[in-house]
Amino acid sequence: MINRVRGTQDILPARFTDKTDAQIECWNLVEQTARDAFRLCGFEEIRTPIIERTELFERGIGTETDVNKEMYTFEDRDGERVSLRPEQTASVVRACIEHGMFNQPGLAKLFYIGPQFRRERPQKGRYRQFGQIGVEVLGQSDDPAIEAEVIEMLDWYLKQLRITGTELLVNSIGDENCRPAYIERLKEAIRQRLPQLCGSCNQRYETNPLRVLDCKIESCQPYLNELPVITDSLCEPCRAHFQSFTAMLDQRGIAYTLAPRLVRGLDYYTRTAFEIIGSQLGAQNTIVGGGRYDGLSQMLGGPPAKGFGFAFGIERMIMSLPDDAARSLKQVPDVFVAYIGERARKHSFELARRLREAGISAVVDLEGRKLKKSLAVANSLAARYALIIGDSEIDSSSYVLRDMTTGEQRNLSESDLIATLRN
Ligand code: HAM
Repeated sequence: MINRVRGTQDILPARFTDKTDAQIECWNLVEQTARDAFRLCGFEEIRTPIIERTELFERGIGTETDVNKEMYTFEDRDGERVSLRPEQTASVVRACIEHGMFNQPGLAKLFYIGPQFRRERPQKGRYRQFGQIGVEVLGQSDDPAIEAEVIEMLDWYLKQLRITGTELLVNSIGDENCRPAYIERLKEAIRQRLPQLCGSCNQRYETNPLRVLDCKIESCQPYLNELPVITDSLCEPCRAHFQSFTAMLDQRGIAYTLAPRLVRGLDYYTRTAFEIIGSQLGAQNTIVGGGRYDGLSQMLGGPPAKGFGFAFGIERMIMSLPDDAARSLKQVPDVFVAYIGERARKHSFELARRLREAGISAVVDLEGRKLKKSLAVANSLAARYALIIGDSEIDSSSYVLRDMTTGEQRNLSESDLIATLRN
């Protein structure tokens, strides 16, 4: 037998799996609710390739980031290095540059839904192929109203899904004017603590000191708490931007927690960074991650442009849903058509076609089963009704409709049948 690749999932109809984040009904709910919420705020969909030139991610998300080290990269036959996308912000910005979208007046407000790939150690809520839904606002404005509106939309989205118990963490990580001096101060403070800090902190000190702040190791926490925070070192424009952003969240009644150690795992961020964490997820508790990335366009060889956005993991969003979220979404046939004999079998196919034309989902037994076995299949599909057809039903143009929950049976003409099933 050939099994699926480690860290990947098959998404199945719910009746084949108990694992909610592997149920297609949950995926459809999360995706459709996102489409509805984004449409209300004027976002348009973009689809970019799953495979991109490796250089895009090296320049975009940085070579010394975890995400970059986890990429699936290979050399194509012509020697070109390509990667499965580990995230989509860099791809969206590339597409905007490539198609001259920055030349259009106004903001490009885009969203995407699709798989991403990271070769991480699989665990609960962490996969090597996972779904992301993301939003990016790109253009010439860096007005904090963009941040506030996008976060308000997210807040609305979570409410639509009835997800509770989440926490919004916000921070500013400064820009190219104030961050370099802060990083020097940070490095100096870390250097004094290196012997007490873990191996990964020691490594990050050399390659990406800001990421030391993100260490989750218990024994490092007391030392990390002593390190200087960037919010005390912001330049005046960054401070004003952050103040204005949080004031706009206040105006909208959106609760948040200031998280001065929140730094995010990708190099392209400037100023606002945020995450939404959940209570039901265990170690991988970040559902949403996002922030501002002014200048990413230039890093990728494009015109000067600003950007802000977020992405969330579809699996993690599903794991945060209330227990009954998907129950009503199970796809069940309106009616299962069972028959007795060859003549009734032919008649069933014709009748099923007319039912479907009337918008009724009808499943006909295709395996020539005996009536009892047919009804057992109807049961396992959770069909609302079964229709039973034999010679006498055809002759009298009257069908037996059986309610699969109550077992009650009624004789109905075709037009009454359609009227009943449509209800
Ligand atoms: P990220 O924080 O790397 O940001 O990922 C965003 C979300 O994707 C995470 O919060 C998590 O829910 C989900 N995720 C990440 N890795 C995995 C995994 N291995 N398994 C399951 N879920 C995962 C970005 O990707 C940025 N592009 C977000 C962004 C958009 N920033 C600005 N615009």
